[in-house]
Amino acid sequence: MQKQTVAVSARLDQVRYDIRGPLSRRAHELEAEGRQILRLNIGNPGLFGFRVPQHLRDAIAEKLPQSEAYCHQQGLLEAREAIAAQHRRHGADAAAERVFLGNGVSELIGLSLSALLDPGDEVLVPAPDYPLWTAATRLNGGVPVHYQCPPERQHLPDPDEIAALVTPRTKALVVINPNNPTGAVYPREILQALVAIAERHGLVLLCDEIYDSVLYDGARFEPLAPLAFDVPCISYGGLSKVHLACGYRVGWLSVTGAERRIKPLLHALDLLASLRLCSNVPAQWAIRPALEGPNEIGALTQPGGRLHQARAAILRGVAQSEFLRMVTPHAALYAFPSVDPERLPGFDDEAFALSLLEHESIILVPGSSFNIATRNHFRVTMLPQPAVLDTVFAAIERELVRTAEKAGATRRVA
Ligand SMILES: Cc1ncc(COP(=O)(O)O)c(C=O)c1O
Repeated sequence: MQKQTVAVSARLDQVRYDIRGPLSRRAHELEAEGRQILRLNIGNPGLFGFRVPQHLRDAIAEKLPQSEAYCHQQGLLEAREAIAAQHRRHGADAAAERVFLGNGVSELIGLSLSALLDPGDEVLVPAPDYPLWTAATRLNGGVPVHYQCPPERQHLPDPDEIAALVTPRTKALVVINPNNPTGAVYPREILQALVAIAERHGLVLLCDEIYDSVLYDGARFEPLAPLAFDVPCISYGGLSKVHLACGYRVGWLSVTGAERRIKPLLHALDLLASLRLCSNVPAQWAIRPALEGPNEIGALTQPGGRLHQARAAILRGVAQSEFLRMVTPHAALYAFPSVDPERLPGFDDEAFALSLLEHESIILVPGSSFNIATRNHFRVTMLPQPAVLDTVFAAIERELVRTAEKAGATRRVA
């Protein structure tokens, strides 16, 4: 009898996560052949020499002997209290009983969408987005409906456009602020308009605020929950970025809104959290010291700090390029430059990223991986040393020149 191959779920047909996709697999092949690849595709501070603050490591080491049992499905109470207190300092009506800890925000995004969605429910997701939001919506039977945040509008959403996308099936509105991949920080008026849309149409606000303190040049971040009052709102944060601890896998969510409206949601989250027992216990001990201790990311993002200088190197690289332009990122760990379509008509972000990998041993993420229709952007992280970024932009420019020459040659032949 012929042996059948394993049939996997058709739900995965439309699910993508290109940040670790085909380009990354090709990079592994090249590495196996002995090539050194500069990986600028993932916002992973530990890969670039950033260390988790010492007081977080000490807290985990000290509490390791007390971390051997499962803890409460929502997470350690002392950690949840520290998270709720931080939200309350910013004006949100948060409480430890409405905080859930997870193995990174990633796990909690899946958990929340699984709690909320029935097949065919629609979720408003920004484009570009952090692609897990689109993927997790599909995985949970939902339909992502993208609202545009284009460069012509400084990558900001237009509340009128969003309101026009609402249908009777719309369940939730995802807000990624500060934004990955664009580095946009949303002003209060826009956030208030998004709250008004959620209120009018009975939507749940899903606010991914994992970059809340990674801010440059005086940018001001406004958390959404304090503006949302009674509107059901889930705010997400974690240790991966602000506290440079991606590998610890610590994220949290805090649910706010009128008690009566959020009660079923809390029950659903509690059930789903219980099904996975609890999240990694040792790393939860780092939460309170992280939120109550010194603001170490601030030293990196202020003038003279490493991330500030890295961002300056990227701005310089784009300004010196014949082909590139960019909306200045005000936050987070990425820049999202685009290629001027007049200089390079027909530019294809995926083909470019592959050629850059083959010729220059650098891996970036093509813009179309972030669920936008245009194919002339790419995302680069600010995590390498500034001097390395200077060489990266020189390499990108060489590749753009090669692309332009190739396009010219093709046009001449045609
Ligand atoms: C916007 C955004 N949300 C969520 C995550 C997931 O973070 P983690 O699972 O490490 O908490 C990331 C990771 O890059 C991100 O950029």
